[in-house]
Amino acid sequence: MDEKVFAILDNIEIANGSLQRRYLLVDILCSLINTEKIKTIISLAGGSCVVPIEAIFQTEDNSLLLINIDISDKALSRSNLVLANANSQKTGKKVNLSTYKMELTSGGFELPDFGNCPKIIECTELWEYLNTENRNQLLKSVYNGLNNYDSYFILTVLVNNPDENFFHSLGFKNLYPCSIKEVIAFVESSFSIENIVFTPNRTYAIFILKRKESN
Ligand SMILES: C[S@@+](CC[C@H](N)C(=O)[O-])C[C@H]1O[C@@H](n2cnc3c(N)ncnc32)[C@H](O)[C@@H]1O
Repeated sequence: MDEKVFAILDNIEIANGSLQRRYLLVDILCSLINTEKIKTIISLAGGSCVVPIEAIFQTEDNSLLLINIDISDKALSRSNLVLANANSQKTGKKVNLSTYKMELTSGGFELPDFGNCPKIIECTELWEYLNTENRNQLLKSVYNGLNNYDSYFILTVLVNNPDENFFHSLGFKNLYPCSIKEVIAFVESSFSIENIVFTPNRTYAIFILKRKESN
């Protein structure tokens, strides 16, 4: 990339936050995989799945299944390529990936049944593009998909965009940051909040959630 582009990105807080978020997410996923007997990681709007793949390859576990659910064929095939590349390294580890093409904002969507094992559902860089109805729908589907109480929902949210005016002046208006208070109001009836981890520049917050027993 051009040096000027890097200079611009260096000064955009959510670009810095995205990088910070990536390292934090890898650490959080690794730690849960190592301590919680997780068998499946489901990445919602997973894109190229760089983060969960990086996390899985940093753990000792050899039996994890990764699932990518995304609306884009291109993103799904990119995740297959990223994984094929990681699998071809001589690490002794081979990870399986299943991909599902699915629209996560259509009314009443249901996640496929991934069995009753402890799992992580991870969703990053989707929430801030959703309206209230879609956010509630997403939470309802994740709640139903987390049918094992040792499972986790890791939701990453843009909580503060200091450069909002700059984005608006570029005509980029479909990004809706959501304050910590608002996220808590969305999730608290169905999920218990185990932890909230902020990026050092406080643009993103990573919510570590578990399904409540009944809602
Ligand atoms: C910026 S990428 C984020 C990828 C990954 N979660 C990460 O943080 O690196 C956003 C992804 O969301 C997917 N996406 C956007 N809207 C979606 C929708 N309504 N249903 C499913 N996937 C969607 C896009 O195809 C894209 O792969």
